[in-house]
Amino acid sequence: MFPKTNPTATKAWQQLQQHAEKMKQTHLRNLFKEDADRFKKFTLSFEDILFDYSKNIITEETRTQLLALAKECGVEDGIKAMFGAEKINMTENRAVLHVALRNLSGSPIVLDGKDVMPDVLGVLNKMESFCNRIHSGEWKGYTGKPIRYIVNIGIGGSDLGPVMVTEALKPYWRPGMQPYFVSNVDGTHIAETLKKVNPEETLFLIASKTFTTQETMTNALTARAWFLEHAKDEAHVAKHFAALSTNEKSVKEFGIDPANMFEFWDWVGGRYSLWSAIGLSIALTTGFEHFKALLEGAHAVDEHFRTTPLENNIPVIMGLIGLWYGNFFGTGTEAILPYDQYMHRFAAYFQQGNMESNGKYVDRTGKAVTYETGPVVWGEPGTNGQHAFYQLIHQGTRIVPCDFIAPAISHNPIGDHHVKLLSNFFAQTEALMNGKTAEEVRAELEKSGMKEEEIKAVMPYKVFTGNRPTNSFLVKEITPRSLGSLVALYEHKIFVQGVIWNIYSFDQWGVELGKQLANKILPELVSNDAVTSHDASTNGLINAWKQMKK
Ligand code: F6P
Repeated sequence: MFPKTNPTATKAWQQLQQHAEKMKQTHLRNLFKEDADRFKKFTLSFEDILFDYSKNIITEETRTQLLALAKECGVEDGIKAMFGAEKINMTENRAVLHVALRNLSGSPIVLDGKDVMPDVLGVLNKMESFCNRIHSGEWKGYTGKPIRYIVNIGIGGSDLGPVMVTEALKPYWRPGMQPYFVSNVDGTHIAETLKKVNPEETLFLIASKTFTTQETMTNALTARAWFLEHAKDEAHVAKHFAALSTNEKSVKEFGIDPANMFEFWDWVGGRYSLWSAIGLSIALTTGFEHFKALLEGAHAVDEHFRTTPLENNIPVIMGLIGLWYGNFFGTGTEAILPYDQYMHRFAAYFQQGNMESNGKYVDRTGKAVTYETGPVVWGEPGTNGQHAFYQLIHQGTRIVPCDFIAPAISHNPIGDHHVKLLSNFFAQTEALMNGKTAEEVRAELEKSGMKEEEIKAVMPYKVFTGNRPTNSFLVKEITPRSLGSLVALYEHKIFVQGVIWNIYSFDQWGVELGKQLANKILPELVSNDAVTSHDASTNGLINAWKQMKK
């Protein structure tokens, strides 16, 4: 197990604090002027991914000190502990082994004296033959028609990963397969989805690690009732419902044949589960070979993360840069901005990945931390974001460290779209870094013929301070493999930060309270009586609703 180090008590943290004061007086523009080799010094490559972190307010000294912090906080031991199947998810007494799910070489990973790999490979084989049966048309619906529609019913980690990946890999969809994803307990979600499919050609995947999640179970029961309205016979359920879960007992109770259950294990965190049976919708939509390539891309990054010295280790550097701003500049937020329309759910995916993992204020010794932990993560694809929220990133009062991601090659090389897209990708990080000085604004306005008085009035609004940090990820092409790699890089970044912040990144107790209260309130909503058991606001709202719905 790795040490439970309070990061603020390390020598490196103290040094970084002092160093940050100096760096706050530095401008990125000058850092580039002073060092012609800056790009070379602050870029790393992994296969087809170029990671440029040179547009950050850092020097080589910053990097050295951040790496010292990682060392002092036991990042190397943390990596060993995770890959060594130690129960690093202490509050749930579980190992954290999503890396095993993509360890296609099958090299043993031993947990509690048992190699988990035969089971992992067994489920993958089962997924592969299931995909083959569906795709070949051998698997038929209750009227003898092949399956065309996949409806994945799940929420959180049992939804966001499959949605994000299937959308990002749309160019790889198998002709004739159409996936849908239902997550929200709002009846609108399932109702609108059921309008688009027909029961004879639809396969419902009930995706839930626990198989107890209210939203998923409610949607699954509605889907089942809808199906039976048409199919009329319970025996047909077996052809149209499969379960992706760790909970065989509840799957059986729901009425799904265990033969149609794709198992995974409690050492797979929900938000890290797209690599498991939860990824079946991905495999069915894109083909098993592409799902496998996704796993291979992630595994290659796992090997990079496990074996590369910290200074060249991309997830380590990503984690340290995030922490540099969060802890020493007080930024509190990060944006992920993919310049790829297919990746439009990437930020949402890592919003859960990051915020559910590292949104914690209690450290691994049970004490409240005295430093910032997980940032608020958000983002939208470029260039849409440019016309929505980039104003604040350029000229707002807070620094928003941003990750820019773009493919070098587009799947849709239409006219000049891609060069236009990329011109924006390159321009934004340059603009955020350099800004625009008063002199530059003046020169521009004078050239346009503006009068001195007007120039003076408008000038302050047109100046950009710049010095706004960004990372750029230039990916040759978004393929199943490169996407798998990219996702794994971000996953491990979260891990590195969790180790340094000395928090448990793999539980999510913070979502429980709301669930408990909703369960308490539900019967109160069904009764006609006025509610008095809560605070005045909650009682007031519930009782107002009872009046309104009449
Ligand atoms: O919201 C909490 C959570 O437990 C997430 O971590 C998880 O991804 C989601 O609910 C869904 O859980 P399950 O797969 O068990 O239905």
